[in-house]
Amino acid sequence: MTEAKTIPQHVAIIMDGNGRWARERGLPRIEGHRAGSDSAREIVTAAGEIGVKYLTLYAFSIENWRRPREETSALMRLLTKFLKDEIPTLHKNNVRLEAIGRLADLPEHSQKQLAETRRVTAKNTGLTLILALSYGGRTEMVDGVRKIATEVREGRLRPEQINEETIAASLYTSSFPDPDLLIRTSGEMRLSNFLLWQTSYTEIWITPTLWPDFRKPEFLKALEDYRKRQRRFGGVEPT
Ligand code: FPP
Repeated sequence: MTEAKTIPQHVAIIMDGNGRWARERGLPRIEGHRAGSDSAREIVTAAGEIGVKYLTLYAFSIENWRRPREETSALMRLLTKFLKDEIPTLHKNNVRLEAIGRLADLPEHSQKQLAETRRVTAKNTGLTLILALSYGGRTEMVDGVRKIATEVREGRLRPEQINEETIAASLYTSSFPDPDLLIRTSGEMRLSNFLLWQTSYTEIWITPTLWPDFRKPEFLKALEDYRKRQRRFGGVEPT
């Protein structure tokens, strides 16, 4: 039983509402994504300053490939540009970049820039920024089960040895703690295939604000609400 007195160690965010933000302004959807990348930049800096250790951003889901090619290509170009332009700021703020998902699905220019930005920020010791790219919670489990099945087949693991730790270790997130707080913007009350295993005991905070309008003051409000919550992990409140 833990009282969440402090700042969350790991915050995960479903950045939703870029399209609606653009539509409300009569702009093309990509303009919403561009404004959304400004929010991402601001929240990364804020999270680092506050002392959050891990920030996972749902930047592109595996289902997002179903969008028109024009939009997915524009999003990938925006991602590559973000990864390149942010290097000096990430460095200045001691941020290490990581990524989870089926990264081989990304276009080559994004894969190359991702590898480069990861390489140059690898020794930073402040915030770890984890971008979920071509990510799906169910595909992550499929990939994990394949790894475990291979270990069993090769005789390195017996089925009865499989436990929660084995499964957690087979996921893309094996080297990160589970999220303490999940934020979703634009008011939808869904997980949308995000970190399905890892969010078992995560506190959820949902705001109607569209992602491009989600900036530092509202992020601080989410952290303040989290601080007031009691995390019981299935136990009971102390008497
Ligand atoms: C959801 O809005 C957002 C996305 C599918 C992409 C998220 C991408 C960004 C915030 C910009 C790039 C970020 C980085 C880190 C480079 P939506 O298009 O589903 O909005 P809608 O539901 O209103 O249509």
